[in-house]
Amino acid sequence: MRSILVVNPKGGCGKTTIATNLATYYAVWNTSTVLVDLDPQQSSMEWLRVRPDSEVAIQGFNGLHGKIYPKPDTQRIIYDVPARTDSAKVARLIKLVDVVIIPVLPSALDIRVSASFVADIVSRIRANNAKAIVGVVANRTHRHYNSYQVLEKFLNSLDIPFVGTLRNSQNYIKAADTGVGIFEMPIGQVKQDMEEWKPIIHWIEKKRTPE
Ligand SMILES: Nc1ncnc2c1ncn2[C@@H]1O[C@H](COP(=O)(O)OP(=O)(O)O)[C@@H](O)[C@H]1O
Ligand SMILES: [Mg+2]
Repeated sequence: MRSILVVNPKGGCGKTTIATNLATYYAVWNTSTVLVDLDPQQSSMEWLRVRPDSEVAIQGFNGLHGKIYPKPDTQRIIYDVPARTDSAKVARLIKLVDVVIIPVLPSALDIRVSASFVADIVSRIRANNAKAIVGVVANRTHRHYNSYQVLEKFLNSLDIPFVGTLRNSQNYIKAADTGVGIFEMPIGQVKQDMEEWKPIIHWIEKKRTPE
């Protein structure tokens, strides 16, 4: 089983979008997946609530209250967390997860807001969890934007991999509204978005030799 944490205290940077769409990637490949929502706003659980019965089921838990009972055959657990990352629950998660995805909006303003946090969370993970891999996904952007290069330079300085870029796409808005992910939408409509996920999925799923 592999556990994946999507984290950044900046609201609106794409945590829920990445958590829910990644869950649908696994769903379409029949990989038994659990989505845990630790955000009091419960956006991931709201998305699951409107999810059509015709799509492959994704097990969901409100991670704030009660226990989490993943089915025994669970292969992936995805944690969508709130802006506040100083809770005991997030501290515990940082110690146990295998993969940490940090979505960042690469506008100059967002980079300034996120920079110290990204540096801080990466050092917390590296100090508490030697096995976790940490990577940044630039969200709602394009490689040729100036701000993208600013972000790239910043990440290089911290030695954090840049694992992918997602463009600004109406498909994510539609998917959020209808309880599906881009992987479940008509291919002609989402081809470019699906392409952008390839390096991200590859990075998450890559076999790594234990050190
Ligand atoms: N790549 C994208 N293209 C278009 N809209 C996006 C994209 N990523 C996120 N959004 C939209 O931006 C808003 C905030 O994203 P969300 O994933 O809820 O952020 P967070 O969970 O970090 O607060 C949502 O309405 C979402 O649909
Ligand atoms: Mg959210």
